Amino acid sequence: MKKPSMLSFLITLLLAAAVCTQGSDEPVKDISGNPLTISQQYFIQPVKTESNNGGGLVPAAITILPFCPLGITQTLLSSQPGLPVSFNYQGFTTETIVHTSAQVNIEFESNIWPVCTEFSKLWEFDDSSSAREERAILIGGSRFSHNSSFKIEKAGEGKGENTYKLSTSTGTVGAIPGGWSGAPQLVVTNDDAKTLLVKFVKVVGDYATTTSTSRVEKLGLRMFPFY
Ligand SMILES: *[C@@H]1O[C@H](CO)[C@@H](O)[C@H](O)[C@H]1NC(C)=O
Repeated sequence: MKKPSMLSFLITLLLAAAVCTQGSDEPVKDISGNPLTISQQYFIQPVKTESNNGGGLVPAAITILPFCPLGITQTLLSSQPGLPVSFNYQGFTTETIVHTSAQVNIEFESNIWPVCTEFSKLWEFDDSSSAREERAILIGGSRFSHNSSFKIEKAGEGKGENTYKLSTSTGTVGAIPGGWSGAPQLVVTNDDAKTLLVKFVKVVGDYATTTSTSRVEKLGLRMFPFY
């Protein structure tokens, strides 16, 4: 009877892991109040304020030499939703709903990706020794690296419900004026004033069909500064 007991041991382990993943955390909700689901696509929508136009997030070059890896910039067009992303747990889990404080990968979802194709579409933060104090968020992470690990933390109650901030092991994701007409560039910061508050908008229907003619992707592409 060795096999069944091994199996039940494994099942117990799996259950324990699932419980641990949840802990006291709660499901992250999209703008409509529905839980964020693994593999579903979302726009990360910066919250519009006096100093923030609420434009979407797009990959963009942040240095000219080298041009790659790309960074992430908030577009100056407030009506532009940016490029969709998907979330995935970094560790093994059977969980399909994203919980606050879980370690997740964030990945841009786009079939058109004309530059820096040797890099992945996963978000990471620069933890090279040459990194500035406010480390740039870059595109080109790898699934299990600590610099590709993000947490989604609750940032609002009541009227500000379903508002979140993203954080890393070294600070919170914020925005500073970038090189392209001052369009905000995403960095890791410990300055609360720079924290980027965001909401999640589920991508639905034809709006973001993954065909190459998708409206979203055409809009997103324009945001590559050299295109
Ligand atoms: C992220 O971490 C990985 C693994 O430690 C490392 O190879 C890579 O250079 C890091 N990326 C950046 C941009 O610092």
